[in-house]
Amino acid sequence: MSDILKAIERRSSTRGYQKERPTEDELECLLRAGLQAPTAANRQEIHITVLDGDSPVLAEIEAEKNKGMVPPHNFYYEAPVVMILSGDAGFHWSAVDAGIAVENICLAAEGLGLGSLIIGCIRDAMGGEKKEYFARALDFPEGYEYQIAVAVGYKAVSKEPHTYDMEKNVSRL
Ligand SMILES: Cc1cc2nc3c(=O)[nH]c(=O)nc-3n(C[C@H](O)[C@H](O)[C@H](O)COP(=O)(O)O)c2cc1C
Repeated sequence: MSDILKAIERRSSTRGYQKERPTEDELECLLRAGLQAPTAANRQEIHITVLDGDSPVLAEIEAEKNKGMVPPHNFYYEAPVVMILSGDAGFHWSAVDAGIAVENICLAAEGLGLGSLIIGCIRDAMGGEKKEYFARALDFPEGYEYQIAVAVGYKAVSKEPHTYDMEKNVSRL
């Protein structure tokens, strides 16, 4: 089986990480995988902000997300690195483009032996009353907004890939 098919088959969400940070070469490989993703009309509008797990901005996003949430929950499972993908709020395809880019990052991570977790649960926090503040703090280009995020790092836990139901999810006409 090709490497890419193996990565697709083996990837699963990682919700527990070692403290060690991926190397700069590994991170660059993930960023290149994200930017190599196709975008509508080849607009290449997706911007990626890379943060270390101990970044104060991540703590602020965490606090905003956890407002009123009992018990609080660390949305990135203490991963050593989180990437936040933003896209042009006025471009119809930004969400799709970010989704494709984030999966490229996850598959590249799997190929490198790293774990990854796609993060959508901060959507309300990122789009709420601190939206402009977070956009500035995360260096989003003008007019950009959060689309999706991804945690990456060496796995401390492993989970089997999910199963699926071909009968239910596919129509062959
Ligand atoms: C758009 C999107 C948003 C997600 N957001 C979260 C999230 O905020 N927190 C989380 O733990 N998992 C999140 N996930 C991971 C899914 O829960 C996970 O992909 C799904 O349960 C299937 O498991 P698998 O990735 O191990 O195959 C998200 C996945 C996608 C595609």
